Amino acid sequence: MAESELVVNQQQMAALRQAWRDQGHSVAIVPTMGSLHDGHRALVTRARELADRVVVTIFVNPLQFGEGEDFDRYPRALEDDLDFLQGTGVDVVFAPDVSTVYPEGARQEPVIPAGVVGELFEGVHRPGHFDGVLTVVARLCELVEPDIAVFGKKDAQQLFVITQMFSHQSPPISVHEVDTVRDTDGLALSSRNVYLSPSERTLARAIPRALQAASGAPSLAEALEVARQILREHPGISVDYVELVHPETFLPVVNPGELSEALLIIAATIGATRLIDNQLLSIHQ
Ligand code: PAF
Repeated sequence: MAESELVVNQQQMAALRQAWRDQGHSVAIVPTMGSLHDGHRALVTRARELADRVVVTIFVNPLQFGEGEDFDRYPRALEDDLDFLQGTGVDVVFAPDVSTVYPEGARQEPVIPAGVVGELFEGVHRPGHFDGVLTVVARLCELVEPDIAVFGKKDAQQLFVITQMFSHQSPPISVHEVDTVRDTDGLALSSRNVYLSPSERTLARAIPRALQAASGAPSLAEALEVARQILREHPGISVDYVELVHPETFLPVVNPGELSEALLIIAATIGATRLIDNQLLSIHQ
């Protein structure tokens, strides 16, 4: 299929959606901001397993970037993305412009509040970020009308607030999560990794190392300490947080000794690049 045939506009998307519904086909959406990598490939592969039709959306959402964040320099490479998607099993790519997603203008759009969890961790460092994420995901789902939505576990807090939003939605959209894909050096794949210089990239490996070391700790409290210690050893890494959260609530774990499972979440800035990662820890006594 030629690249241009993959891309549909809003009207074509609506017509296809109607045709698929008439044929009884289920539809999965894979929302992305483009600059695609193997982490996205894994999302498309999962979507392909789950649904008859797969729609990848590509939209760099202004609403989820704060003042002074990287909206302007966020990598945009539609042609490369379309090449990348050839042969992945995607049926169509929907890459709307801002006026399609936000007809009244992005800043006029009433946002969907992400609630208490949306104000923690990433929400502290990026106020309003999750309101912007929920708003665009809801809007893209209005345009695509999927039965299924697929997201990666790397953005754990995003996955949590989106799952929470969809659990209140009618008709329901079922959320499926896909494991984080890592590079050979352990770093979680992210479109922002391209910002890292070679020396920053070397430093960044301390993040997966900290998660890995924590996985081997005998208790959750020790896991947290081990991870913090590894990051402390690298003054070039500015740690925003290293915390344990309850996997069911995404709230901070107060008494780690009372739990056998928790999610260890890390956010750190290296140079001008902010990275996040996480690992589910299970303690077996
Ligand atoms: O994870 C992302 O790429 C974005 O936050 C998402 C879910 C596509 C919304 O813009």
